Amino acid sequence: MKRTRVRLGRNSYDICIGSGLLMQTGRQLREIGFSDKLVIITDPTVKGLYGNTLSQSLTGEGFKVTILEVPEGEEQKSLDTAGRLYNELSNFHAERTTPILALGGGVIGDLTGFVAATYMRGVPLIQMPTTLLAQVDSSIGGKVALDHGQLKNKIGAFYQPRLVISDITTLKSLTTTELSQGLAEVIKYAAIRDKGFFAYLERNLEQIKSLDEGVLEDIVLRSAKIKAEIVEKDELDFGLRHILNYGHTVGHAIESASDFKAGHGEAVALGMLAAGRISNKLGMLSQNELIRLKEVIQRVGLPTKMPSLEVGRIIQAMEFDKKIFEGKIRFILLRSLGEAFITDEVSPSLIEQALVDWSEET
Ligand SMILES: NC(=O)c1ccc[n+]([C@@H]2O[C@H](COP(=O)([O-])OP(=O)(O)OC[C@H]3O[C@@H](n4cnc5c(N)ncnc54)[C@H](O)[C@@H]3O)[C@@H](O)[C@H]2O)c1
Repeated sequence: MKRTRVRLGRNSYDICIGSGLLMQTGRQLREIGFSDKLVIITDPTVKGLYGNTLSQSLTGEGFKVTILEVPEGEEQKSLDTAGRLYNELSNFHAERTTPILALGGGVIGDLTGFVAATYMRGVPLIQMPTTLLAQVDSSIGGKVALDHGQLKNKIGAFYQPRLVISDITTLKSLTTTELSQGLAEVIKYAAIRDKGFFAYLERNLEQIKSLDEGVLEDIVLRSAKIKAEIVEKDELDFGLRHILNYGHTVGHAIESASDFKAGHGEAVALGMLAAGRISNKLGMLSQNELIRLKEVIQRVGLPTKMPSLEVGRIIQAMEFDKKIFEGKIRFILLRSLGEAFITDEVSPSLIEQALVDWSEET
């Protein structure tokens, strides 16, 4: 098992990464000092795959366990579902010291995190992410949130978990599509922060796709360390943490201009390429690096061609996007592979030119 730490003073916590960790969770939680009862929140698919293993590990250490099930899907990140969970927690006589374990992908992590942050004004939260996206991104950094009408991820809090347990073995049951959604984020970390990691991805993509546990453990660990380092410097997302939005400015615009037909990972991949092209036009990211970025994205099965959308619609969507900062569009660009920076100074004509060139090339 590998371990890294998110250092946030009294809110610090460990991220444990390795194979077969679900089976060791009972012992691990005992060692931390939890006693008595625990609640697991999960969805039917994840419960069917891993619910028994986790429950047995916990009951084997004498914990009294209840599993609360939430149907799958983004629509469960709602106040209604949270309300139902509060009732179930209360029926189970969950107390302020009763830990809640979020076993699942980012939907379960965000929803459970919100419930843990608010039930009894906050109970201990253990993130147990089972998708690649959740292991490298949503379980780390304490953003917990629900959707409400048009407000996606806007009703929430910063609430750090007490521990993150990423069992690599769970990644083996993901579909190829789910794996590539997570790989979009992994590529993002390498592109913004670590050119050595980028080269590692280039060398090991085949092992990643064939779900080699050693390589998966490495990429989850390296991604988690990058996210932890950024969160430590800007926990509340007022500055540096914005670089995690690399690929999101154009990505979100593509998602809304295509009426959300593009999946999030696909949209981020396209957004990373668009930001790469803009960086290149500004004389930063070299042509060779832009090609390397495109090839890695392509090799993990994510799209690299400008979608058949009017450039005007994408720009319009960007203007409505939350990244508009004092009337300017905020971009995360690359000086080179592994080095990102935040800017509000990209002219609309340059954005347009980069997108037009891209659409003509494909
Ligand atoms: N809090 C944050 O910082 C943050 C960051 C990024 C994304 N998010 C959120 O994360 C969510 C997306 O998360 P996601 O991509 O993990 O999707 P998800 O949680 O919807 O999971 C996708 C599907 O995979 C299934 N699944 C989960 N683990 C599995 C496994 N090991 N084997 C087989 N199937 C499995 C689930 O049942 C679900 O049907 C969005 O709501 C997004 O807003 C949050």
